[in-house]
Amino acid sequence: MRVIPEELVDICKKRMEPYPCEGFVYGRGPEQPTIMIVGEAPGETEIHNGMPFSGRAGKVLDEFFQYLGVSREDIYFTSTVRSRPYKIVPKKVGDHEIVEKKYNRAPNRKEQLAHAPILDYELQHIKPKQLVTLGNIGLQRLLGNKYTISQMHGRLIHAKVRRLKDLDSNEWIMSDDSYSIFPTFHPASIFYNRSLEKEIYKDLDKLKEILGEIY
Ligand code: URA
Repeated sequence: MRVIPEELVDICKKRMEPYPCEGFVYGRGPEQPTIMIVGEAPGETEIHNGMPFSGRAGKVLDEFFQYLGVSREDIYFTSTVRSRPYKIVPKKVGDHEIVEKKYNRAPNRKEQLAHAPILDYELQHIKPKQLVTLGNIGLQRLLGNKYTISQMHGRLIHAKVRRLKDLDSNEWIMSDDSYSIFPTFHPASIFYNRSLEKEIYKDLDKLKEILGEIY
């Protein structure tokens, strides 16, 4: 379901124009979901499908939900930015030809600020019972850069979260409301470090207990 006013989407698209980001994927899910997933940014597949977490990381995430016994219909999916941040890297093809290829990358601070009003709006209006942040980007967007996922994963945090002060500033302030936040690693992290899978499943065991208390 689309909850974001189109005017806000237009403002945020404009705020993002100076940066190398493409496309726009809306957050998706019910109002008052059990879980709101705060990811990093859509990748190439998500931009193509218009659907959050529909790529390789999304398949891994689906396995996590299956383990938790939570269906996708009970989850609202969003991320720190709604466009795909990319970098262009020259790639050698054959012996002589060089082609430029676009790669996904994490959104930087300016890009997160550009799209901040969207996530701020979602947090205020969707009222998830449990926020689950994925990786450093989701965690730091909400709680600030002094937190790292390696320290904070698997811990339940009740806290106010960062939001943009106003549309004319690029300053974070803290929200009025507090949220229940459970950070874990980004599902894509296991592509680079297989040993994190074990850590994630330990986190999921804790999350299962927490959700047991919510339901
Ligand atoms: N990673 C994210 O954070 N969001 C997506 O939609 C896909 C990958």
